[in-house]
Amino acid sequence: IALSANASSSKSSSSSSSSDTLVFDPDAYTKLTKTVTDTAGTKHTVVYHFWKAITYVANPVDATYQSLIVSSPVEIDGKTVDASNAPILLANSVGGYLPSSVATATEVGGGGSAMGGGAAPSGAPSSSASASASASAAAPGANGNTNATGGATSSNQLLALAAGYVVIEPGARGRTLKNSGGEYYGTAPTAIVDLKAAVRYVKSNKGRIPGDVERIVSAGTSAGGALSSLLGASGDSPIYDKYLKELGAADASDAIFATGAWCPITDLEHADGAYEWNWGGNGLSTGRTVDQTVSKALQAQFAEYQAGLKLRGLGGFGPLNARNLDEYMVEQYLEPSATTYLAAVSDSARATYLKANTFITWSGGKATFTWADFLTHVGARKKDAPAFDAFDLSAGENNEFGTGTTLARHFTAYGAKNDSTGLSSKRVPSDIPAKLDLMNPMYHLVEKVNPNRSKHWWIRLGTKDSDTSLTVAANLAARLDNLGDDVNHIYYWDEGHGANTDPGDFITWIAQVTG
Ligand code: DHB
Repeated sequence: IALSANASSSKSSSSSSSSDTLVFDPDAYTKLTKTVTDTAGTKHTVVYHFWKAITYVANPVDATYQSLIVSSPVEIDGKTVDASNAPILLANSVGGYLPSSVATATEVGGGGSAMGGGAAPSGAPSSSASASASASAAAPGANGNTNATGGATSSNQLLALAAGYVVIEPGARGRTLKNSGGEYYGTAPTAIVDLKAAVRYVKSNKGRIPGDVERIVSAGTSAGGALSSLLGASGDSPIYDKYLKELGAADASDAIFATGAWCPITDLEHADGAYEWNWGGNGLSTGRTVDQTVSKALQAQFAEYQAGLKLRGLGGFGPLNARNLDEYMVEQYLEPSATTYLAAVSDSARATYLKANTFITWSGGKATFTWADFLTHVGARKKDAPAFDAFDLSAGENNEFGTGTTLARHFTAYGAKNDSTGLSSKRVPSDIPAKLDLMNPMYHLVEKVNPNRSKHWWIRLGTKDSDTSLTVAANLAARLDNLGDDVNHIYYWDEGHGANTDPGDFITWIAQVTG
């Protein structure tokens, strides 16, 4: 790939290829120490080599975001470890489809989206991450980033490091980035293109970079979970080639081995319908009910979509459709989730919980209840209707599909038709369908089944997460299962957006699937 003259950095000459310039320097690390508390509460001292932000493309548009950090353990609790062939946790910290940077990170777990302004998702993660870290004297200060979704993922990073894995954390451009000409340069599909470029960088440095590049396990939460699942589904898909070429991405595969996704906010073009199918009867926290004409219209669209997917449910459930999906969600996910929760707590805590939640029948060590009662239990929905393609273009996803100097655009026919901002065409712009494909894991699993997708999937979602429909993750899991992939999907009972209550199990799962 020839670099254009103005794009060459100090490291590259204008005639060299990206593969020449994107060479990882094994010696350019600093040695740090981190104390990691595992899920059982035991503290571990991890000495690791840390590589500060490395730009992963030859032609960066904005190296602040198109950079990654690497952490590789060398000593755990006084014992020397060799991570040169260990699994690699590729943990993104994207939240809200916002820009995510590791440029100033000084230690493992140092990434995060700037959840400051605009339509950033609200809400801290539920408190459940059980790994905590106390920076040792070797790495004071870190970068102080405490964004919502970073919390869930950072426990993954720390536990992975303490388990002897290599942790690589890529930044990525995001939807709010605007250049001096007023152009948005981080909207779809840039975040996924950047993550793919990061994978290509890692794989092209096989033998130089620590870890086994054939055993990359991706992780991310919410928008980061969406991107993680997209990364897993879209490995080596040619539809990203022109974007990767433009960036001077390394000449290597971008397929990954396994995928972890927490509360993925994905399948965006169908998310409005799915949301109404799930939360349509729930009011907003203000007490207001959403427009039922809109809700019903979207539900009808979803029924058509769901039927078209021709999914079979996990656990031998049979064909799924919008009429039996409630039964499926209850049987396959929600009752087992409540059961796990209630079985784990003390007898008195269980009794108290059941007394306060009489919709649950507890019998023979199992929780049972109806979908309708479950919805009442969850209560207020988080988003208005439509949840993602807002008529007034106010949703974060409208910005994600912005382009040029246009901040926000519609990406569904229904949203465009009902536009309230004075758009003349009332149609979705012509470049949108291709961008939706570029952003949707389901495209790579349904429309164009990708043989190079990852085959091992860890998917998690809180039962009280109304940032999207609970069916989005379930449909993703069902499709993967129907394709023959190894799917580990459970719901966390009563947890909200961003929850990660079993990070230790995820680390164990990585050992199992990569072993
Ligand atoms: C996130 C949350 C949302 O509600 C959404 O629509 C997109 C992203 C997030 O937390 O990343």
